[in-house]
Amino acid sequence: MRKIKIAPSFLSANFSIAGEEVKKITENGADLLHLDVMDGSFVKNISFGPKFIKEIRPYSDIIFDAHLMIVNPWNYIRQFAEAGADIITVHHEACGDRLKETLKAIKDLGVKCGAVINPNTEVKEIESVIDECDMLLLMSVYPGFGGQKFIPDVLPKIEQARKLIEKTGKDIDLQIDGGITKENVKLVKDAGANVIVAGSTVYNEPDRAKVIRELREM
Ligand code: DX5
Ligand code: ZN
Repeated sequence: MRKIKIAPSFLSANFSIAGEEVKKITENGADLLHLDVMDGSFVKNISFGPKFIKEIRPYSDIIFDAHLMIVNPWNYIRQFAEAGADIITVHHEACGDRLKETLKAIKDLGVKCGAVINPNTEVKEIESVIDECDMLLLMSVYPGFGGQKFIPDVLPKIEQARKLIEKTGKDIDLQIDGGITKENVKLVKDAGANVIVAGSTVYNEPDRAKVIRELREM
């Protein structure tokens, strides 16, 4: 059985007590902390940058999973690595033909790396970089905001990506991000996703340990 990992999206946390929130979600059993970095240009929202990540880093040793929704990500990967990101994922839509070199540059910094595609991008666009990746991330909403509705068209893409991963024979994670709820989590797992990002579903529940457990076990 594939190991299921739950990655709460910190975008839905209370930033005024950010350090405490990191500590609590770790104690609540999260496997990774998904950190949504938005620049107001690649997406129509602004979240936080490397300084914020550096300052919450001491509160937990949980895996920091930085999802960069920014233009020209290669200009900033060193800062995110030095801030304490354990894995950095970059969008095909932001990198274009520089995707492979950007993934390699992340690895050269001693950090794990992953490629991301939006709901309207085909899996074949990242097929040639799978061997460079520790994780693939399929967006199941258009990036920019938490709390959006899951786009079911992504389900066959999950199956496709899982098949490509299997062909490599490597242990590459397949992450799904956007609109994941208790109602659809089984669907995405059955399709082949094993890293489940959940923002509003986790943070809207008072008992976060319980919802994390449910998302993992459903
Ligand atoms: C969307 C972000 C997601 C988002 C997930 O741009 O990449 O990580 O915060 O939030 P929910 O789970 O609420 O859709
Ligand atoms: Zn994300």
